Amino acid sequence: MLQVCAQPPELTSVVMGKVQVGFRLRENGIPEYNVYYDQRAVINWSGLGFALDSDSSFYKGFELIGTEKRSVDETWQPVWGEVKNIRNHYDEIKIHLQQKKAPGRLLDIVFRVFADGVGFRYEFPKQPGAAYFIIKDEYTRFNLTGDHTCFWIPGDFDTNEYLYSTSKVSEIDNRALVNSSTDIAVRVAPDAYVVQTPLMLKTKDGLYINIHEAGLMDYPAMQLHIDKATLGLTSALVPDAMGNKAYLHAPCHTPWRTIIVSDKATDILASKLILNLNEPSKIKNTSWIRPMKFVGVWWEMQTGKSTWSYSDFADSTDSHGKLIPNGRHGATTANVKRYIDFAARNGIQGVLVEGWNTGWEDWFGNWKENVFDFVTPYPDFDVKEITEYARSKGITMIMHNETSGSATNYERQLDTAFQFMNRFGYPAVKTGYVGRIIPRGEHHDGQWMVNHYERVAKKALEHHIMIDVHEPMRPTGLQRTYPNWLASEAGRGNEYNAFSNGSPPEHETILPFTRLMGGPMDYTPGIFKLRGYVPGNPGRQMHSTLAKQLALYVTIYSPLQMAADLPENYEAKLDAFQFIKDVPVDWDDTKIIEAEPGDYITIARKEKGKEKRRSFDRITSSDKQIRK
Ligand code: NOJ
Ligand code: CA
Repeated sequence: MLQVCAQPPELTSVVMGKVQVGFRLRENGIPEYNVYYDQRAVINWSGLGFALDSDSSFYKGFELIGTEKRSVDETWQPVWGEVKNIRNHYDEIKIHLQQKKAPGRLLDIVFRVFADGVGFRYEFPKQPGAAYFIIKDEYTRFNLTGDHTCFWIPGDFDTNEYLYSTSKVSEIDNRALVNSSTDIAVRVAPDAYVVQTPLMLKTKDGLYINIHEAGLMDYPAMQLHIDKATLGLTSALVPDAMGNKAYLHAPCHTPWRTIIVSDKATDILASKLILNLNEPSKIKNTSWIRPMKFVGVWWEMQTGKSTWSYSDFADSTDSHGKLIPNGRHGATTANVKRYIDFAARNGIQGVLVEGWNTGWEDWFGNWKENVFDFVTPYPDFDVKEITEYARSKGITMIMHNETSGSATNYERQLDTAFQFMNRFGYPAVKTGYVGRIIPRGEHHDGQWMVNHYERVAKKALEHHIMIDVHEPMRPTGLQRTYPNWLASEAGRGNEYNAFSNGSPPEHETILPFTRLMGGPMDYTPGIFKLRGYVPGNPGRQMHSTLAKQLALYVTIYSPLQMAADLPENYEAKLDAFQFIKDVPVDWDDTKIIEAEPGDYITIARKEKGKEKRRSFDRITSSDKQIRK
């Protein structure tokens, strides 16, 4: 039911179940909205608008010139996912505004109100004289009703790979964490009081509030600046090399700003609001898109047993200029065959190989543009032989394209790289963006790179290739539109347990409430050997247990799940490995049984297309109570 009422100066509200959104224009023509849940204020009156290059006050002086309302109640089926059917039920109001001053610019604000929250976005209609414009700043505010507890990482322009902090909003200061996170390759967080979204909040009276965005395309990622005096959050967009935020061409719109709210933490995890706000799939024939589990020549490099590179240094060459092998290269034909054999023996579908292409001696840290060519294997990696061997064993090969942040180089090679994958039978690729971005001055989460990741997804789609993107902007539900974009990393994965002091046990109970709200994570679970990796430091171990590593296959959702440990470590514990062999990666149904960010999550799922198989897992931050 849509209820619209008006009261001076202008006030409209939309209600869906317990969620209510109000809209008004203040006396000076500033648009504002508020959000209630079950009669309790969630967001106090908060301003909306922009500073443009051509008008620094595109947030005031508006008048209402009309409203349009509609309701939608439909059900759709994702190509893969946590549930088979998704209900998309909302009431929408589109508010048409015009600035009173010349040239009378138009701005529409659209609110969609769902039973579990609200999404709103700005639309810039086609209008004479205002076709091209630059967003200098977005002033969307989220005025909180109190000093809530929040689960946050710094708002960094280039990385999401931080550990989470839990604090009051008023206590947020990201400097200590940014400065101490020396294990993250590139950190650019110039404002101490900016946090990343999804931001998870909990009020004193038990409301759970999640703020994020949906459908991030052709726009920079939204982070949140905290005004401690008023407990207000303001959209802080990631800038480009010029310090501008976005270059737009009307008619166009921003991504959706999302507020998911409930008095039950489980409802936050079950919400499909972000997916519902994304556009439907661009692909009709999806038969080539297949969720899968995979192993890979990977953890052995992360833990120092072998190397990505063939030589230790770029100038380790013989008198003919040929690289001298270091004897520890991981991606050799023989070693890859070992993984293929292991996968085939155990019903694991895919094998990822990293360090197969030339360039790893000198790949990182020099802001070098032409790093890799994505088609030239090292001399000890026989791509044809491996393809034939994998094919004979029914194994799907997963390509690895590390760009080192040089997006320009990757874009020039994309066609060639994807043709190479088509030719040698690689239907999936893991990409990576470790390092400072080229074009120089751009950031991982800025508009240019947001467009780059989408260009890669589109090109992959043309070539029928599934993608798993490491180090992109964090997901915002684009996997609905591009179902070949199976997973992203965009967070602190299990790999930090290999090369840093490791993540605390609570980490994986916060991730679903934050990083995973926008989409699947390639977390790389399944590490069985929990200690003994660091020479000279036998006491260092992962802050995890074997049972918890198994539970992650259910609690950290992804249609692409790695069994990340080495074959020999699985062979030593075949009873536990049976769970990885059995656990599905695509689901008909999911029930979030109980959850509390930072403490525990219990999830039950039902396998896609199978009536009987169910998986049930519980992880806790203390990791003491595991049942399976
Ligand atoms: C970082 C990725 O997260 C990791 O999975 C990969 O192995 C390295 N980059 C090298 O590309
Ligand atoms: Ca990474």
